[in-house]
Amino acid sequence: MKFLLGSFALLSGTTTTAFSPVQSNTNVIRSPSQLAASGGKMSVRPIGIGSAAPSTLITNIDLESVHDTSDEWIQTRTGISERRVLVHDGTRSVIHASADGTKVDSEVNENLRTLGIEAAKDALAMSGISASDIDLVICATSSPDDLFGDAPSIAHAIGCDSSKCAAFDLTAACSGFLFGIITAAQFLNGQGNGAKNALVLGADALTRWVDWEDRNSCILFGEGAGAMVLKSSGDFAEPDSDEEYGILGYAMHSNGGGYMDLKCNYRGEPKKISTPGEGIVVHDGSYDMMTMNGRKVYSFATREVPTVLDEALKQAGISVEEVDHLLLHQANIRIMETVANRLGIPMEKVITNLYKYGNTSAASIPLALDEAVRTGRVKKGDVIACAGFGAGLSWGAAILKWG
Ligand code: UT7
Repeated sequence: MKFLLGSFALLSGTTTTAFSPVQSNTNVIRSPSQLAASGGKMSVRPIGIGSAAPSTLITNIDLESVHDTSDEWIQTRTGISERRVLVHDGTRSVIHASADGTKVDSEVNENLRTLGIEAAKDALAMSGISASDIDLVICATSSPDDLFGDAPSIAHAIGCDSSKCAAFDLTAACSGFLFGIITAAQFLNGQGNGAKNALVLGADALTRWVDWEDRNSCILFGEGAGAMVLKSSGDFAEPDSDEEYGILGYAMHSNGGGYMDLKCNYRGEPKKISTPGEGIVVHDGSYDMMTMNGRKVYSFATREVPTVLDEALKQAGISVEEVDHLLLHQANIRIMETVANRLGIPMEKVITNLYKYGNTSAASIPLALDEAVRTGRVKKGDVIACAGFGAGLSWGAAILKWG
């Protein structure tokens, strides 16, 4: 990614390379409250997808006992029928690499990492790439099992080679998976970096932070994990180039001016430690429950998502008519209908499984794409226009050619 520092640098073309190869068709604009980055084709192919969801189900009917709500209201206003939640006492089988390198199969409590591990293994199996050949693991999440990051332990559990693989978490709420694949692509794109294969996860368990007293938000969220394997396809200039496939164009935005509309803030309990003198008050850690202004987030999404998709399509040089599938962050079916309508894309092209998972935040795009690929709906060579949006506020789009 190329970062341009200030308007002078933008106008003069002066650049600084931040952490990955410079790409000539990347534009970055910075202003005090809004950040944006966009670009065209990157030589990277998505070749595997996987997903996992917890075994425990909460239906709308179940929620009728919790709140003054109804299955009819939730379905009509959101499109959601049921969602999966982590209850942490279910078990999953996980194969870990032991210290001497042998594999150990153990039953562990179901948590976000076990979902991520299952999704990652499915994606690797589809890709045909071995975990030991993965150079980069990014886990997009806002609700990790470990505040310090879940990506390294997921990478270890699936058998990545720690001597060559870097793993880290990325937080961009419901835009996280899209931001994650665009970030990974910066490392895989072009030559000189050496990274060949990346695994990007989107995994969230937002019911951990949902206010179950708030009927406006608690009906929306569920948990899940999805994973995608991306492979560098080398230099476009080569005759056997894979340039037809992969990320054809992208755009990313954020605007902290809207951060209050959807947030989950740190809130610690004061605790005095008896240092010499009067002592110091520190804070024991926790977070407040999530708060959301649903109407504001709704109007932000329906305003910005068509625009950012248009921006990414232009970067890709693709017309709306050439889009085979529209895949949006699964937040509300009415948002999907409005965006599709504004772009002139028929609903038959909209991929959704929102009705059975609810809003799974960073997991929602790979969770829906996995189902669409495995059922044969998305085929090799299909063009998928993807967009994510959510807290930050953040939003972004990527045009993928599958295969
Ligand atoms: O991942 C990204 C984050 N989030 C989103 O994308 C969420 C975006 N926002 C939305 O999806 C919608 O705004 C909601 C689904 C959250 C709410 O739907 P809405 O159509 O915007 O409802 P509203 O806030 O305008 O409320 C309409 C009425 C209100 O009653 P009054 O004041 O008209 O009497 C609410 O109190 O619906 C009421 N209401 C409910 N009624 C039954 C709100 N939640 C519920 C509920 N059951 N669960």
